[in-house]
Amino acid sequence: MKSLLSLGKYFAMHRWRVLSGFLFILLANLFKTYNPTVVRNAVNSVTEKLCNVGTAVNGKEYLLGQLAIVLFVFLGTYVLVALLEGAFTFLMRQTIIVVSRLIEYDIKNDMYDHYQRLDLAFYRKNNTGDLMNRITEDVSRVRMFVGPSLMYTGNLVCMFVLCTAAMIHVNWKLALFTLIPMPFLSLLIYMLNNKINRSSEELQAKLSDITTNAQESYSGIRVIQAYVQEKAMLGFFGKESDEYKDLSMKLAKVESIYFPLITLLVGCSISIIVYVGGIYVGDGKITLGNIAEFIMYLNMLTFPVSALGWAVSLTQRAAVSMDRIDRFMSVQPTVLNDGGRLEDLKGTIEFRHVDFIYPDTGIHALKDVSFAIPQGQRWAIVGRTGSGKSTLADLTVRMYDATKGEVLIDGINIREWNTGHLRHQMGLVPQDVFLFSESIKDNINFGTENSSMERAARYAEYASIHEEIKQFPQGYDTVVGERGVTLSGGQKQRISIARALAKDPSILILDDCLSAVDASTEKRIEANLDRVLAGKTCMIITHRIFSLMHFDRILVLDEGRIAEAGTHRELLAQRGIYAELYEKQAATESTSTTS
Ligand SMILES: Nc1ncnc2c1ncn2[C@@H]1O[C@H](COP(=O)(O)OP(=O)(O)OP(=O)(O)O)[C@@H](O)[C@H]1O
Ligand SMILES: [Mg+2]
Repeated sequence: MKSLLSLGKYFAMHRWRVLSGFLFILLANLFKTYNPTVVRNAVNSVTEKLCNVGTAVNGKEYLLGQLAIVLFVFLGTYVLVALLEGAFTFLMRQTIIVVSRLIEYDIKNDMYDHYQRLDLAFYRKNNTGDLMNRITEDVSRVRMFVGPSLMYTGNLVCMFVLCTAAMIHVNWKLALFTLIPMPFLSLLIYMLNNKINRSSEELQAKLSDITTNAQESYSGIRVIQAYVQEKAMLGFFGKESDEYKDLSMKLAKVESIYFPLITLLVGCSISIIVYVGGIYVGDGKITLGNIAEFIMYLNMLTFPVSALGWAVSLTQRAAVSMDRIDRFMSVQPTVLNDGGRLEDLKGTIEFRHVDFIYPDTGIHALKDVSFAIPQGQRWAIVGRTGSGKSTLADLTVRMYDATKGEVLIDGINIREWNTGHLRHQMGLVPQDVFLFSESIKDNINFGTENSSMERAARYAEYASIHEEIKQFPQGYDTVVGERGVTLSGGQKQRISIARALAKDPSILILDDCLSAVDASTEKRIEANLDRVLAGKTCMIITHRIFSLMHFDRILVLDEGRIAEAGTHRELLAQRGIYAELYEKQAATESTSTTS
């Protein structure tokens, strides 16, 4: 329960609303519990008057007229009190439930800000589903505590105090009899609720299994059809659906006991009131009106008392969720943005004895890497798959910090720069292309102020994709589908290049950005890029060798180390890994052109 204390600061932010909410709870309950008194008095007056009418010889008409007036006054009072109660109940919901929504909004914003600050290592460790759950499911459970749970508990306390006081005032013994079933009611509802919660959680989990399964079948439909696995998938889906159905039935059964149980317990209480109360009326200890009044009190107490069990289980769940949220909020990013340097980049990159070990897997991806790219030069990073090229790129834009050694930009340790400022002036085309489900124009202009079509078209031309975009019926307004399904891999890569170029960065890093285009398109793009990139500091990562592009220097990575370094000619002359890669590539190209 301690975790719920961290909600304190949010309550403090909305203290006036919370306080007025509790005031409205009190007022609403005061009026609500006043009505049984009105009814009692009405019943008593009517019985009294009717007795008089029975015995009166004359003046019957007059007495009946008086009775009508009395009834009219009571009715008026009842309606007025009920209206006031309704008005305050409305205000109570308007404050407390609104506060819960506001607090939900605040927590979500805080979490979202925190998500934005966390680094890549965090996102690699946690899966997207969990992250989404934290900000939706967990927050909404906390909201249920702040809103309904608090409101009903407040309501119950007020109602209970006022009703019991009124009942004891009339007759404490009858009050005791009336209240005996209440704790049982609360306990039973609490137990039932826990059972329902557990069942609905199982149900939810099953549903999310089915959804994931269905989603995977749709996005992997090509593989499923190619391997003729439709039947197997259908069978699997059918089995999951059956389990889901069984769980739903189980839940429905438990839920169906809920209301009958409440009615049963309330029925017992009413019987007690009528029986014991009847005896007391006979003894002259209480009036008939008191019995009516007690039944009303009982009915009033039923809902809040049963809501208590519900509120307790909501509170428990909220505590668990809040604990998860707190733990998440206390995760500190490993890449701290505490350097304040805000200068324009000239564009030199230097690695000094850099080692990098992935924190989650312990893989030693870079070992004693040292090099320096002077401003305006274009270097290639070549190497077999898994040799650490993408890791090198990630360290250059500070997605991670080096485990040992230092990375320097313009001769200054990367940690001393403001990370956002640095990234603004760097363009990265990551290996796994990601486009947003927006128009091509917006994707290219992403992260820049200017969002004009002309601008997008200019950079698309540099990335040799303009002609293809023009062919689309909607041109630059074509919306890239979910994960860019309407585009081919090569097209996505080139849009991603255009996006990086559009930032007009001082340093540009292209990570394997032409892997999905064919050899002839690649040659065309290479020649084009060669012109566009002139004068920018570039790091071009590839495991193919671009023969048409001029490189000032080529680094060959092998198992995280720099194995060779030099110009194209020098490396060929060394007859090492580079020469081997080059010859292999030349051999496959000549077979593909001759075949
Ligand atoms: N996020 C990560 N967490 C843990 N280990 C990783 C992660 N990314 C890469 N690695 C490991 O680090 C090593 C270097 O990977 P890296 O992605 O830098 O290779 P690469 O040269 O870019 O390969 P490719 O040419 O296939 O893209 C590999 O052994 C890889 O398994
Ligand atoms: Mg890579």
